[in-house]
This record gives sequence, structure tokens and C-alpha cells, in this order.
Amino acid sequence: MDRIEITGGMPLQGEITISGAKNAALPLMVASLLTDEPLALVNVPDLADIRTLSEILAAHGVTAEIAGETTARTLTLSARQITSTVAHYDLVRKMRASFLVIGPLLARCGEAKVSLPGGCAIGTRPVDLHLNALERLGAQIELEDGYVLASAPQGLKGAEIEFPFVSVGATQNLLMAASLAKGDTILRNAAREPETVDLGQCLIAMGAKIEGLGTSTVKLTGVSRLTGARHTVLPDRIEMGTYAMMVGTAGGQLRLRQTDADLIRSVIPVLTHAGLTVKEAPGEVTVSNGGQHLGVDVTTEPYPGFPTDLQAQFMALMSTCQGKSHITETIFENRFMHVPELGRMGARIAIDGQTATVTGVPKLKGAPVMATDLRASVSLIAAALGAEGTTTVSRVYHLDRGFEKIEDKLSKVGAQIRRIRG
Ligand code: EPZ
Repeated sequence: MDRIEITGGMPLQGEITISGAKNAALPLMVASLLTDEPLALVNVPDLADIRTLSEILAAHGVTAEIAGETTARTLTLSARQITSTVAHYDLVRKMRASFLVIGPLLARCGEAKVSLPGGCAIGTRPVDLHLNALERLGAQIELEDGYVLASAPQGLKGAEIEFPFVSVGATQNLLMAASLAKGDTILRNAAREPETVDLGQCLIAMGAKIEGLGTSTVKLTGVSRLTGARHTVLPDRIEMGTYAMMVGTAGGQLRLRQTDADLIRSVIPVLTHAGLTVKEAPGEVTVSNGGQHLGVDVTTEPYPGFPTDLQAQFMALMSTCQGKSHITETIFENRFMHVPELGRMGARIAIDGQTATVTGVPKLKGAPVMATDLRASVSLIAAALGAEGTTTVSRVYHLDRGFEKIEDKLSKVGAQIRRIRG
């Protein structure tokens, strides 16, 4: 298994182009199931998760073609005919986002058999909200041998749905399903994450009638048919926030290009309080390190709050802050697995329930550490960039799921980082 070796102490200096967002690209790819015409997605990142989802969609009859490079990288998906409405456990367990196929398959074919995804490293992650909401649209749902059997022989019917709490995935599933349902649907307490808005905008380009995207009440009027479209995937706000935090751990200055500061609006004041300087310009953000960081408290929240997907990276930054930082995770119940690994590098972090208290130390020290999930693994890289000596991060396949060409991007701006194959 590949490992990544980082020798800390090199400040980052230069430019990084932000890739298209993984968490926008995945639901957008699933939207291809809604139409028999090609859906072209521009700015699709080159990531393991994108390849896995292409395989999963192929099992339903979707063909995929890729052309172009970096921001012009275009994935064209075509679901001319749905050849199977079954999503097998072997594929769904590889990637939870594939559970999103249930809404579009039900809407287009009137039936779907999709494996329950099961838990994952960061929590149990049930899908009850998806299923309850689909039932409200008239789907009949049964659970059998670990599979969800869903059917709507007469088609889905619009309904008013209030989610008990915000779920990105359930909102996305319902946006897709309700686009092809008969009549009006109102989604209350809907997710406002930019990736969900991006999906909604693509659905509109495909002919869907949606109002209120980006607010917590979204109204859809079902249409009988959606068409193909060409849509550009929005920039990856988590990648942008991660590189910004790496400027904090490693020092230096980075110009983050092909992005939009609005995507990390709630993160910028946190970075500024911690001692970083953030300058905005159209389509880019420049982050500079001001020296010693101050401890700042954060609580993860649905958008527009501080994202859970940046919590681990922020903890790496706070590990060498002046004073203390309290970091509270409210989205996932088990998202502190990076804590013992940061501890191996000398970080002082105590967990009490949902809150981690970080007491800053002057410097971390390189150590062999292990990645446990995507964001945890990149937090270890962030920590290693500022640590004394060499850190080896193992199990980097997690990293390959979500950070495009991370060693290339970081070594081009001065980091001492290399992949050891095998
Ligand atoms: C999306 O996951 C992202 N994944 C996650 O990114 C992200 O952390 C999360 O949203 C929160 O922002 C993709 O976009 C592919 P949720 P999702 O439904 O949709 C509970 C990463 O590192 N819940 O908003 O699965 C759930 O267990 C990943 O890129 C239910 O209880 O997240 C969680 O505690 C990790 N029942 C909370 O809600 C349900 O039916 C929020 O989950 C659905 C969710």
C-alpha cells in the first residue's frame, strides 16, 4: 500500500489551482440517470471516487467518456437506457454517495433495489431521512436482506416534506426524485450546501423547475421529462480551506486560483482570528501566515456554518496555537479519529463527548501515522508540513478518494512530500 512521506519545515509559496468539488461532482454524476440524453460535466476532478461512481453507474447502463485536462476535464455520461435498477452491496459499500441512485431510478423507472450502505469510519450514517421522504412522494419501501426495495408503479407524486434535521444527501436525493414527480414538492429544512445548489442548478439546466435553491425551503414543480445539459462543477471549497489551513501549519503564502471566497465565507473569520491573512480577489483567494496562531473555538454546522469536512484540518492547525481551542463536532458522532494520530506527533488534545480541547504546543514532531478517512488523512499531512522531521502517512488510499494530485500540488509550492509506492 502506498505511503506519503513529508519532511516538515518548508514554507509554502506560490499558486494552487483549486479542482472541481468531489462532493458536487458525485451527485451531478448520479443526475445523469434522470435523462436518456448525455449530461456533460466540466471541471470534474480526477479522483478515485469519481472512477468508482462511474463503475457503479455503468452497472445501471450509464456510459462514461472523459476528455480534456484540469478545469476543462469533461465527463460525459449517457443513460440512454437503464439496463438495471439494482445497486449491489459490493458497489454501494465502496461509496455511500452511490445510495443517491435510489431517487433517480425510482423517478425514471418506477422501481429500485439498492443496498443499504452500512456504517463507515466517521459514524453510523443511516438513510432513514432519504427513505421517509421518498415514502412521502408515494414510494413503497421495504427492507429485505440488507436491500431497500422501492417502487412507485404509478410514478412519484409531489408532497410537502419537512426534514427533521439537515441532510445533504437526503436533500439531493429528493431534488432528483421530485424533479420528475407529478405536481409540486416543497422541501423544508433543506440543505443549503453549495454542492446541493450546484446539483439544483444542473437539474434546472436539464429542464427541472426549482425555486429557492440555497435557502432552507425549496419548491419543485415536477416535469415529465428531463433533457441532457452541459454543466460546470463548482470549485472544491474543502480543498480550498485545506490549503488555506496548510499555509497556517507550514507558513508562507498561497494564491488559490479558480475558486470563490464566498464558498468559505464562515471559515475566513476563523482563519483571520487564528492569525492568518486572507485577501480576496475575483476568482481567487490569497492566504498568508502571520506567525504564531491564536486558539479559536469552532463548532461544525450545516452550511453556512463551519464545515465538518474541515474540522480535522483545523485541529491540525490549532495543535500549535497559543492557548487553547475547543472544537465541537455536531454533524458526525465519530469524527475524531485523527486525534490519536495527531497525538503521536506531539499534539495535546483531550476529547470530552463531542468536543475536543486542543492545548497548543510550540511544535509537532514527525512520526509514522495512519489515515482513517479522507479528511483525517489530509489533516495529518497539514500537521506534518509544519512538524519537525519526517512523517510517514500510511493508508493513503483515503486521500486519493478526494484530493486531486495533492503531492504534485504541494511539491510545486515548496513542500517536501513524496509518495512511496508499494
Ligand atoms: C455529505 O454526506 C458529504 N458527502 C460529506 O462529505 C459531508 O461530511 C456531509 O455531507 C456533511 O456536510 C458527499 O457529499 C458525498 P448528511 P451525507 O446526510 O450526505 C445523519 C467527505 O469527507 N443522517 O448531511 O452523507 C448522518 O448520519 C464526506 O467528503 C441520518 O441520521 O451527509 C450525519 O450524522 C464525508 N439519516 C448527518 O445526518 C439520514 O437519512 C448529516 O449527514 C441521513 C443523514
